[in-house]
Amino acid sequence: MSDLEALKKEAALKAVALVRSGDRVGLGTGSTAKYAIEELGRKLAAGELTGIVGVSTSEASEQLARQVGVPTEPLDPRPLDIAIDGADEIAPNLDLVKGLGGALVREKVTEVQARRLIIIADHTKLVGQLGEKAPLPIEILKFGFLSTIDRLRAFLPGGQLRQPAAQPYVTDNGNYIYDARLPETFDPAELERRIKGTLGVVDTGLFLGMAERAFVAAPDGVQELT
Ligand code: 5RP
Repeated sequence: MSDLEALKKEAALKAVALVRSGDRVGLGTGSTAKYAIEELGRKLAAGELTGIVGVSTSEASEQLARQVGVPTEPLDPRPLDIAIDGADEIAPNLDLVKGLGGALVREKVTEVQARRLIIIADHTKLVGQLGEKAPLPIEILKFGFLSTIDRLRAFLPGGQLRQPAAQPYVTDNGNYIYDARLPETFDPAELERRIKGTLGVVDTGLFLGMAERAFVAAPDGVQELT
């Protein structure tokens, strides 16, 4: 395991330590959340946790949960006790950019239902301001996507349709993603309102005021941010 992977796992274990028997747990998506799901499976198998049930934020997390023995159920209609997920950028006030893994909409719809959202990451995800390192993923309808991108480019120029291969990337919801470049200065809440008010947009990877705490692992230890 590389040093960075070891850090991600360290952060994940700290978050899973907050899960209690009987909890309904939001299962995040991505290479860091994977360690949390595996640890939940390990704890269930070892009898260190009992009666937890997961709610997956992606098809990939659902599959992993099954593989490691974490029972799952659909999101509706009850709230979650806790959700654990990674992030692409973490600002000092715990506002986040998420969605490079493509699961932003299911993550947001799930995690807004959680009493506690715990973010896990390695230190490379810390930024002074959102947009410093990562693009902002925006999920858009496939129908009319070129027009939607035109509307977004009018105030967020320089972004691009996510297209890793010959075809555009398709989310678990059957939509496309526009990876926007954030301006140097902006008001996150105002920008979120503006993007979500754009016809054809499903949701954005801005997670504002949602995270309760973050465990951020660095070579000199795990920092807990609140
Ligand atoms: C997926 C996400 C992930 O949480 C985010 O991309 C971080 O992933 P990783 O832990 O692999 O860096 O938002 O939609």
